[in-house]
Parts: sequence; structure tokens; C-alpha cells
Amino acid sequence: MAKIIDGKAVSGQIKEELKAKAAEWKEKGIEITLAVIQVGKDAASSVYVGNKKKACAYIGIRSLAYELEEETTQEELLALIDELNGRKDVNGILVQLPLPAHIDESKVISAIDPQKDVDGFHPQSVGALCTGQAGFVSCTPAGIIQLLKRSGIEIAGKECVVIGRSNIVGKPMALLLLWENGTVTVAHSKTENLKEVARRADILIVAVGKPQMITREYVKEGAVVIDVGIHRKEDNKLCGDVDYDDVMSVCSAITPVPGGVGPMTIAMLMNNCVESIRLQS
Ligand code: GUN
Repeated sequence: MAKIIDGKAVSGQIKEELKAKAAEWKEKGIEITLAVIQVGKDAASSVYVGNKKKACAYIGIRSLAYELEEETTQEELLALIDELNGRKDVNGILVQLPLPAHIDESKVISAIDPQKDVDGFHPQSVGALCTGQAGFVSCTPAGIIQLLKRSGIEIAGKECVVIGRSNIVGKPMALLLLWENGTVTVAHSKTENLKEVARRADILIVAVGKPQMITREYVKEGAVVIDVGIHRKEDNKLCGDVDYDDVMSVCSAITPVPGGVGPMTIAMLMNNCVESIRLQS
């Protein structure tokens, strides 16, 4: 029977550590502050933003919420970011994605001061990750590394296959695994013989965005399977990109959905907020 990797428990440990660190900063007179910007009322985004605000309150991070109208222009959004970049009392700036179609996401991400880029999406943050310099790391892949390490799963020398090549998950995930001395393959929708490639993996990271696509035929006996996807099924239940019940019988360890990678993403956002103080001083 495979081990279930409990992201909720691990994120709970991390949040307790961060709570203590935030309290230390508070004693020194520093209140860590995160500005969270949401444009429009996308339902999923509202849930994510609500969870981020709740986590801030729990850890002792001040959050400033900017809930902007769907019709907000790109210029107005850039002007707000410019103002927040200049504020000494704001340590982190997060713009919830996706943005409405009339706003250029990459322009917005590039406008955030890299020293306040707690999402780790700015090209300078990505470049720093690539070359091994100090900077913020995208939260979901950083959370997956923590999940593996804190579950006692060795990465060095292992075959790691990442399915998905997004800027937010796949690419930074591959870089982080490489920094941990994994042997890394990035597979994607154009990969030939995807099942065979996936079956090479000792550690299989799945971020394909397709409900329950990854069945046991993609998984080597004894592999560790990390599921980044989250989808709502017709019966209203949540599922991941991995067919959990099917894969469970061949893998050695697996993350559930919900309660696997999701809680780690928020914990790492909180970590980036706490770390921002050191990066800025
Ligand atoms: N939308 C979905 N995931 C994320 C995330 O991690 N950060 C931001 N800013 N938007 C998102």
C-alpha cells in the first residue's frame, strides 16, 4: 500500500515555524505586510485570495486587499503596483492570476519590484533561480521540494520526470529538482511515447491540467507521484491530474487531492513573505 504524503500536515509544521519567525520580527518592530490584488470576481480566484488572506492572519502577516473592478485598465493596475513598489511598509505584492483578457499579464508581472515578488514570477526571479542567485521561488514547486524533503524522499541521483512546462510550475520545478541533483526530464503535450517517458521516473511530478489523466500505465512500480492538478468533477468532488485509486496500487508514495500540493503552495507564499524582510534589508 502506498504512503500518502500529507501536505496538510507538512504545511501545518511550516506555518508554525513561520508564525514564530513573524513574531520575532514583530518584536523587533517589523510587521510583515503583503498586498494582494485581485482584478474582477473570478470565483476560483476569490477562493484562493481568501485562503491567502486567512493564512496571513494565522501567521501574523498584515494583508492589504485590493479588490479591483473587472473593467480596471492596465494603466490603473500598473499605477497601483508602482505605488506599492514605493511603499516602505509593503514587503510583498501578489497579483492574482488570471487577469482579465484586456490586461497583459507579463507586463504586470514585470512591473512588480523583484524584491517584493513573493510569487516568484518576475523574469528576474526566474533568472535568479536558473543561475543560483538569491530571489523568490515560485510557491508550488518550492512547496513540492519541501514536501519531498520533509517526507524523507531522496532526490539526488534520482530520475525525475516533470509532466508540464508552464512558467509557474513545470519550468521552475525542473530547475529546483536539478539544484537538488535530480536527473530531470521535462515532458509535455507534444512528447512522443509519454507513457514510456513517465515510466522512467522515480519521482513523477504531474502538472498537465487534465482531470485523472495519469493512470497506472504511466507509473513505474515504486515511484513517488506528486499531483499538482485540482479539478471539480461532475459529482462535485475534487480530483487531481492523477487517477489516484488506480495509481495508488503501483506507486510507493502519492499526494492526495485535496490535501497534497495545494496547502504547500500557500505555506511557501507565507515563507516568501517572511523571507522578504531579509531580502529587502
Ligand atoms: N493563480 C493560480 N495560482 C496562482 C499563484 O500561485 N499566484 C498567483 N498570483 N495567481 C495564481
